[in-house]
Amino acid sequence: MNKKTVGIVGVGNVGATLAFILATKNICSNLLLKDLRENFVQAMALDISQATNASKSKTITKACLKNEEFKNCDVIVITAGIARKPGMSRDDLLLTNAIIIVVSNPLDVMVYTALKASNCPRNKIIGMAGILDSARMAHFIFEKLGYGQGQIEASVMGGHGNDMVPLADFSTVAGVRLSELLSKEDIEDIVNKTKNGGAQIVKLLETGSAYYAPAYSTTLMIEAILEDKKEIYPCAVMLEGEYGYENIVSGVPVMLGSNGVEKIIELNLKEEQKNQFAKSIASVQELVNILKEKLWNKHLKF
Ligand code: LAC
Repeated sequence: MNKKTVGIVGVGNVGATLAFILATKNICSNLLLKDLRENFVQAMALDISQATNASKSKTITKACLKNEEFKNCDVIVITAGIARKPGMSRDDLLLTNAIIIVVSNPLDVMVYTALKASNCPRNKIIGMAGILDSARMAHFIFEKLGYGQGQIEASVMGGHGNDMVPLADFSTVAGVRLSELLSKEDIEDIVNKTKNGGAQIVKLLETGSAYYAPAYSTTLMIEAILEDKKEIYPCAVMLEGEYGYENIVSGVPVMLGSNGVEKIIELNLKEEQKNQFAKSIASVQELVNILKEKLWNKHLKF
C-alpha cells in the first residue's frame, strides 16, 4: 500500500462515509479526521478504525484535534465548515502542501473562496461535483432504459447547481450514443432529473442530503491523485481562459494525477451547450459577487 495520508475536515454524513470507504478499502496508509465536534470525531475515528480492523485493511484512522497534524497530508477533503466560516482559517490551508478537494456547498463558490483564501495554484484546489452529477445522470439513463447498468458513461459539466449542463451528446451506453437509444423527450427528462437529483434526495430524507454517491465520487478523485492515475473526471476548477472564461470556477473535464489537476480538457461544444454553460457560469458569478460584497476587506481579497 502507498504511504499516503488523507485528511477529512468535517465528518458529517459525507465525510464519515468517505472515511469509511477510504479506510476499509485500504486507499491510504493514514487517515486523519477533523470536526468541530471533538467527541463526535473521536467516536467516528474509533468506529471506523474498528471497521478497518474487521476488514483487515492497513489504514490507520485517527481523530485529529490540532490543525498542525494536517500538515503532512497528501490530500485534504473539505466537506464542511467553510460555508459557515467563509473567512476560513488560513492555517488550515496555507500550512499544507496537500491537494485540497472541496465538497462543501455552494460548491463552485467554495472552491473559488478556498483558492482566494489560500493563494494556492489552481491545480491544487479542486471541487467534487461533476462525478456525482454524472453518476446521477447515469442512474437516470438506466432508469429510463432498463438496461445497460454498469456500462453507462454520462457526462455533466458546469456548476453544481440548477444550471448544471448534462451533456447528452457526450453520454453513451457501452459506446452507443444516447440519441440512438432514446427519444428527445426521454433525454430531456433525464437532463431535468439529473439537475434535480440532489434535491430529490433532500426532499425524501427531510433532514440532510445525499452522502453515498458524494463520498464515492470523492473517493475516485482521491485514488486518481494518490495513485497518479491520470484519469479524466469532470471537476470544479478555476478557469483561466478555458471555454472563454477567466477567474471563475466551474465544472469541466480534467485529468487528475499526483499534481491534482494536470490538464483541463476543452470540449468542442455546440452553440446551445455553450449558452447553457454561459448561464451556469453566470449563476456562479452571481454568488461570487454576493460573497465579494459581504467579505471584501473583511476576510478575503477576491
Ligand atoms: C448533492 C450535494 C452533495 O448534490 O451537493 O447531493
